Amino acid sequence: MKATITLLPGDGIGPEIVREATLVLSEVASKFGHEFQFCEKLVGGCAIDETGSALPEESLTTCRESDAILLGAVGGPKWDDPNATVRPEQGLLALRKELDLFANLRPVTIHPALAEASPLKAERLAGVDILIVRELTSGIYFGSPRFREKTSEGLRAVDTLEYTDAEIRRVVRVAFQVAGDRSKRVTSVDKANVLDSSRLWREVANEVATEFPEIALDHQLVDSAAMRLITQAASFDVIVTGNMFGDILSDEASVLSGSLGLLPSASLGEGSLGLFEPIHGSAPDIAGKGIANPLATILSGAMLLRHSLGLEQEACAIEAAVHQAVTDGARTSDLGGSLSTQAMTQKVLALLSR
Ligand code: IPM
Ligand code: MG
Repeated sequence: MKATITLLPGDGIGPEIVREATLVLSEVASKFGHEFQFCEKLVGGCAIDETGSALPEESLTTCRESDAILLGAVGGPKWDDPNATVRPEQGLLALRKELDLFANLRPVTIHPALAEASPLKAERLAGVDILIVRELTSGIYFGSPRFREKTSEGLRAVDTLEYTDAEIRRVVRVAFQVAGDRSKRVTSVDKANVLDSSRLWREVANEVATEFPEIALDHQLVDSAAMRLITQAASFDVIVTGNMFGDILSDEASVLSGSLGLLPSASLGEGSLGLFEPIHGSAPDIAGKGIANPLATILSGAMLLRHSLGLEQEACAIEAAVHQAVTDGARTSDLGGSLSTQAMTQKVLALLSR
C-alpha cells in the first residue's frame, strides 16, 4: 500500500527517536512491499522558535492530509518561562483537539526479561497486561473558563473540569470495543465521591455497559486505583478514565514495565487518522547525547501501522523484533545498559529483516 506519514520530531530527544523509528518503518515498507512517504513538520518549542506558533498552520494542514502522524516529544527548559504567552505543549494539545483525537490508547505490558528493571518485586509484575484508554480532548485540559487574575487577596487561577455525556460515551465505547479482544474487563476510574463530572462519567459508563453485555465493568476511585496499580496491577485489564487521571496513571503504570522509554501510545478519533507518540517526554537532560531509548517510538510506529494503516501483520513484526531484541539483552541506559539509540535500533532492524 501507499501511505503518507507526517513526522513531527519536536524537541529534546524527539528528533533522535523519530529518526530511528522512521528507519524501522522504512524497513517494514521494503520488507512487505509498501510505499511510505514521510513528510517532516514543526511542532512544539522548535516551531515557536521558527514561527512563533507551537502548531503552525502548515503543520496542521499536512497532518490532516496524511494517513498517520508520528510525533517525538515537545517541550524543554528553554520554553519554560511561566510568563510565556505560548508554550510547546500547546502545540500537542491543539493537534489532539483539532484532529478530534479523543481516545488515547496506552498499553502497559511487562517484558519478562526486564522484570529486574522495575522497582517492584517480580511477583507483583506477573501477568500484568493493561490497556489504559485516556480521554484526550476534554476534561480539565480544555475546560473553560481558565484564567489567572489579581484579586484584593492576591492572585487567583482557575481551570475548569468539564465533560459532556457525549464526550464520555464515545471514549468509554472505545474502551469496551478494545476490551472485546482482550480479557473482557473494563475498569472505569473516576472521583465520583467528590466530583460532579465523575458522577456523570460513572452514569454514562453504566449506560454504555448495557450495550456490551459480554464485558464486565467495574468502577474505581482514582486514588485507590493508583494504589491498586502498584499492589495488584495484574487485576486490571482495560482502564478507561478522564484526561488528567489518565495522564497521571499512565506515567505511574509505566514504572511497572521498567522504563518510561518503552511505552508507546495511539491517539485516535472517529476516522483512521491517528497520532502516535511515545508516552515519555522530551528528556532535555539527555537530548543530543544519542543515548535515548528509541523503543517507545518504534513501538508507536507499530501502533501506527495497526490502527491507521490496518497493517496488523507488519505491526506484529515490529513488536516481535523489539521483544526479541530485549530478550537478547539489548539495553539502553534507562534499562541499565550501554547501547546507544542507534545501536538499539540496529538490533531491532537486524531482527526485522531476518
Ligand atoms: C502526555 C504528556 C502531555 C499531556 C503533555 C506534554 C502536554 O504528559 O502525553 O502524557 O499531559 O497530555
Ligand atoms: Mg503525561
